[in-house]
Amino acid sequence: MEKQAIIDVKAVNKGFGGLKAVSNCSLSVAKGSITGLIGPNGAGKTTLFNMVAGTLMPDSGQILFDGKDVTHLQPHERFAEGLLRTFQIAHEFSHMTALENLMMVPPGQPGERLIDAWFRPGKTARVEAEVRKKANEVIEFLHLGHVKHELAGNLSGGQKKLLELGRTMMVDAKAVLLDEVAAGVNRTLLKDLAANIKRMNTELGYTFFVIEHDMDLIAELCDPVIVMAQGEVIAEGPMEELRNNPEIVEAYFGTAVEDVA
Ligand SMILES: Nc1ncnc2c1ncn2[C@@H]1O[C@H](COP(=O)(O)OP(=O)(O)O)[C@@H](O)[C@H]1O
Ligand SMILES: [Mg+2]
Repeated sequence: MEKQAIIDVKAVNKGFGGLKAVSNCSLSVAKGSITGLIGPNGAGKTTLFNMVAGTLMPDSGQILFDGKDVTHLQPHERFAEGLLRTFQIAHEFSHMTALENLMMVPPGQPGERLIDAWFRPGKTARVEAEVRKKANEVIEFLHLGHVKHELAGNLSGGQKKLLELGRTMMVDAKAVLLDEVAAGVNRTLLKDLAANIKRMNTELGYTFFVIEHDMDLIAELCDPVIVMAQGEVIAEGPMEELRNNPEIVEAYFGTAVEDVA
């Protein structure tokens, strides 16, 4: 039986000038899955993500989220539906603590940011207490309790990544897009990050759609894995299967075959 899709990309096209970055692309991400998206540089992965997140409009085609057509919704409207992507901790937040960083995330209500609530007398204390409680829960979940009062700017690369992940937990996310979240993270912290993604998936029911260059991480986390090349989806399946398919290895892995064997 076909699993229920939370993200459904239907015949999407996107060109930049003469270049077709994404070409008649159809794929779906099953609810409750950790789905990987791999492919060589320039394959169109980030362009596809941007269209799913709403920061880029497709030239044609359709994007459904949880059964609803979101093709023409703005990123914040998709965010309010529970479709999130992670962002690097902005420079101006590096002087705030880890806990405060989480508290800056909009607390679920579309369009209402915590910062606005602070200027509204009466609501202030209640909202702040609720958000602080939630932020503490998130920090404990990610095992970052020991650094919650550290300035975000002083956290290690891996801890910052966990904090970025934590920001998605401050709202009721249904699906989270991760674009090369492991870049620059060392092996040990990568394991932490992967473990937390898995726990968010199994314990909290998050769906993840993950672009990643690290094949070990993809193999450990993702099933299925979708392969893009030159703007098109060329394969989908468990990583083991893809690794053993000579056409895929040739088309995608190219000269890097030894890295993935
Ligand atoms: N804003 C843009 N303007 C022009 N070309 C772009 C833009 N974004 C991406 N491209 C081009 O589209 C293609 C796909 O890029 P991208 O989606 O970033 O691939 P990937 O994430 O798989 O490496 C590349 O050829 C890239 O140079
Ligand atoms: Mg990219």
